[in-house]
Amino acid sequence: MPEVTLTTLNKLKQTGEKIVCLTAYDATFAHLESRAGVEVILVGDSLGMVLQGNSSTVPVTIEDMVYHTRCVSRGNQGALIMADLPFMSCATVERALQASTALMQAGAHMVKLEGAGWLAETVGVLARNGIPVCAHLGLTPQAVNVLGGYKVQGREEAQAQALLDDALLLQQAGAAMLLLECVPAPLAGRISSEVRIPVIGIGAGNATDGQVLVVHDMLGLSISERMPRFVKNFMQGQPNIASAIAAYVNAVKQIEFPAAEHEF
Ligand code: KIV
Ligand code: NA
Repeated sequence: MPEVTLTTLNKLKQTGEKIVCLTAYDATFAHLESRAGVEVILVGDSLGMVLQGNSSTVPVTIEDMVYHTRCVSRGNQGALIMADLPFMSCATVERALQASTALMQAGAHMVKLEGAGWLAETVGVLARNGIPVCAHLGLTPQAVNVLGGYKVQGREEAQAQALLDDALLLQQAGAAMLLLECVPAPLAGRISSEVRIPVIGIGAGNATDGQVLVVHDMLGLSISERMPRFVKNFMQGQPNIASAIAAYVNAVKQIEFPAAEHEF
C-alpha cells in the first residue's frame, strides 16, 4: 500500500470509497493490518481495557500511549497512524500540546481527542502547530463516569442538533477528521454529508465515510461476556487472523459492514 496521508483520506471521502480503520497496539498487528489494506491504524486508549484489563480507559497514561504508538510505528507499512490523547490530556491547551508532541514524536501522524465544541481552541492550536486532529464525538468513553454508562448519544433532537453544531464548529476550528461513536445511523449520515472532512464511525451505521473497530472485538477476543451491538466477529469462517482482517477490510469497502443489525 502506498503511504496513506490526509490527502488520501480526503480523496476517499470525495470518491465515496469507504475508509478502513482498525485499532492496533503492537508491531505485529500494525504489520498485519497495514499489509491487509487498513488505511488508518488507531492506537486507541481502548488498550486500557483490552491489554491492561481495566474496566474503563480512565487509567491510561500518556506514557502508555507513547509506548504503544512506538511499537505500532515500527511494524506499520504505510498506514496513517492515529493515536489517542488519553484521559485528562486536554484539560488545558498546554497539556494537549505536550501530550500531542510526545505522540507525534513516537510515530503518530494524527492525534485523536475526545470532547466536543469546547475543545475547538485546542484543535486549532494543535492544527496550527502541524498536528492533524481527529475529534471523537458522541459516546466519549473517557467521560463514562459523567455519562453514567456506555450509552447511545444524540437520540433526542436537541442532543442531535448539538452534535451537528459541534461537528461543524470543530471542522471550522481546523479538525482534519471526526469520529462518531454510538450515535443513531441517520444522524451520523447527516453529519458525514454536512462536513467536508472524513467521518469515521463505530456504532454509527454505514453512511459515515469510514469504519473503525477494536481489533480484539472483531477477532472475537473478549474478557466480558457481552459484545456491543455494533461488533461483528470476523474470525468466523476464516482460517487465520490475517484473513479475518482482510475480510473486515473487504466488508467495509463493499459496505457490507456495518449491516442494519449493527446500527442504532
Ligand atoms: O480507543 C479506541 O479504540 C477508540 C475506538 C473505539 C474509536 O477510541
Ligand atoms: Na479511544
